[in-house]
Amino acid sequence: MSEITVNGGRKLFGGVKIKGAKNAILPILAASVLIRGEVKLKNCPRISDIKNMLGVLRDLGAKASFRGNTIKINASKISKYEIKGENAKKIRGSIFLLGALLGRFGKATTFASGGCAIGARPIDLHLRGLEALGFKSEDINGATYIYRDEAIAQNSLEPATGFDPKNTRNAATAQKKALNAMREIKTREVFLDFASVGATENLILASVLGEETTRIVGAAREPEIVCLSGFLNAAGAKIAGAGTDEIIIDGVRELSPVVFEPIPDRIVCATYLLAVCATGGSITIKNTLYEHNENLIAKLRSVGAKIQTRGNSIKINVAELKKTPLSVHTAPWVGFPTDIQSQLGAMCAVRGIPLTITENLFENRFSYASELKKLGFNIEINGKTAKFEPTPRENLTNTQLALTAEDLRGGAALIIAALALPQKTTVKNYELVARGYEDIVADLKKLGADIYL
Ligand code: UD1
Repeated sequence: MSEITVNGGRKLFGGVKIKGAKNAILPILAASVLIRGEVKLKNCPRISDIKNMLGVLRDLGAKASFRGNTIKINASKISKYEIKGENAKKIRGSIFLLGALLGRFGKATTFASGGCAIGARPIDLHLRGLEALGFKSEDINGATYIYRDEAIAQNSLEPATGFDPKNTRNAATAQKKALNAMREIKTREVFLDFASVGATENLILASVLGEETTRIVGAAREPEIVCLSGFLNAAGAKIAGAGTDEIIIDGVRELSPVVFEPIPDRIVCATYLLAVCATGGSITIKNTLYEHNENLIAKLRSVGAKIQTRGNSIKINVAELKKTPLSVHTAPWVGFPTDIQSQLGAMCAVRGIPLTITENLFENRFSYASELKKLGFNIEINGKTAKFEPTPRENLTNTQLALTAEDLRGGAALIIAALALPQKTTVKNYELVARGYEDIVADLKKLGADIYL
């Protein structure tokens, strides 16, 4: 594991440009399994989560290249339906392959998927939703095997004959049989008890091919879901209602090759907004969508950050900030995103802004706050609540200190704190941060930070 060092206390000035959103690209890569021909994705960040996902797809038999920031992927000839191996273990995103493989083959096997150590990450909502679509699941030797049902699964596209162009006759026959079997099922309805992002994405992916109409009620509404639907619709799918809690999917026979640019990463944008709030300064963030961070921006304005938007850019100017107490409760969209509570916590700690965070989604998301406490910050963590109180400067340790990142966004939070503290701080486990930020060190250096790997 590598570490980064920050000589903090410098204001940030200049500009950064945001790449595509990791959490939109991962399900889109899974969706490529459903497409006959090549998918080209532009402006993708070269981060380890995406590289690992490409590894999982290659393990399944897909062809994939990642040159510059462009991904080309062709899964026409994939021949396996098991999500396993070292790559799959490393990322939570591998779970999206479940819906895509079910949509393609009518069956899939998944072993536990990876991701951050921020909580248990169960998949019960995925499985219950898939059950409502007519899929059964069984635990076999530590893996979960999911299938449409015996008769229908046998009739669905056999892996080897998949979209193999040399074998169109068999593929067409298999597809026809599968569709005949699927006709038994009427319009399907799924009611999600909780608006899980991953479960909603898996249900869309499992429903997009075929003849049924599927209605998902209680769907998650995150921009990444709108982006996934936009991608699938560009490839010929018929999905309506993404971005609302009711999504309707009219199955189509096939999806075609597509060139697509995913939405910019709202979490990376939020991280840089919070970094400049922590240090002071003025930066312009290009290729970002203001409406994806309205909730955060309202809070930052309430403490005195000057924020302007023009087209796809956000300009933020920060001098003194008010000590108005803030309170956030993490929640599904349009609530406050769990993925930026850590960075907000770090900013408020170094700026002495009183803050209460209630973390409602993941149970282990305060490890960064425990690390900040080691510097002397006045933070009280109690179950799912963390209270940040202003800390007098003299109470802070001012010798070189090492902090340890335990998860991706928590790591970004520790970097934000280190940028603002007038001392040398190291942040360990940089690899966790590199899962979601293409080159946060280079970006911050460009903005004037004294930071190095
Ligand atoms: C996605 C994002 C993650 C973000 C989260 C919430 C990706 C790759 N990751 O994760 O960055 O923090 O949305 O915005 O897109 N749950 C269950 N059972 C399930 C599924 C989820 O109990 O079957 C619970 C989870 O434990 C959690 C909550 O639902 O408490 C939210 O999870 P979910 O929306 O599914 O998040 P992910 O898709 O895993």
